[in-house]
Amino acid sequence: MKRKRLGLLISGRGSNMAAILAAAAPDYPAEPVLVLSNRADAAGLEVAKARGVPTAVVESRAFKGDRAGFEAAMEAVLGQHGVEIIALAGFMRVLTADFVRRWEGRLINIHPSLLPAFPGLDTHARALAAGVRLHGCTVHLVTAGVDEGPIIAQAAVPVLPDDTEASLAARVLAAEHRLYPAALSWLAAGQVRLAAGRAVITGVDSAVDSLLNPLPRAALLSTQCSKV
Ligand code: GAR
Repeated sequence: MKRKRLGLLISGRGSNMAAILAAAAPDYPAEPVLVLSNRADAAGLEVAKARGVPTAVVESRAFKGDRAGFEAAMEAVLGQHGVEIIALAGFMRVLTADFVRRWEGRLINIHPSLLPAFPGLDTHARALAAGVRLHGCTVHLVTAGVDEGPIIAQAAVPVLPDDTEASLAARVLAAEHRLYPAALSWLAAGQVRLAAGRAVITGVDSAVDSLLNPLPRAALLSTQCSKV
């Protein structure tokens, strides 16, 4: 198997990046060859260095709104490292349609909500305010629209009655760390294809159980099941 040369784009903590680096054993279909941050103070850079992965910084601030210039500088670094596939991992800059088009099908993102619910920022606070019972995260191919694009995989977590933004964020983040390495591996291994604008994954098992929250009494559940 020829591993895809992976570039990880970060802006901060880099815990999703770390989960991917930890998963990227020699038999993993993507080989992390670069961690690129748009901020020099991103904590994830140190994590990558400690793992021996090359890092680079292209300061978005230095380009003062010149998004094309910023992206050209990123492209140069990505090219120097022979990056073939990009995973956005808490990368908090919106990419231009031109950049997205150049990397079409080779650029993925993780977002902390069950898209298309709650695109944008403050997803956990908005989920709590909306009173949803299930929340989660989505890995998707990146298209020109922000937090849009064909969905590769999602993980759902319950929202509990005494949740705070922090407790809910922590539950979602743990799910992100399990979901992202798996979803990225499917893309890198060529198991993701597009059909009518949707991503179809081959060679994976799908969950057939429902996740219910709140959970009805067991007796009620089995009554329902026996009717099927
Ligand atoms: C993650 O929760 C990720 O889903 C989110 O930023 C966090 C980064 O954490 N991304 C977005 O909101 C993108 N729209 P990390 O740096 O520890 O991976």
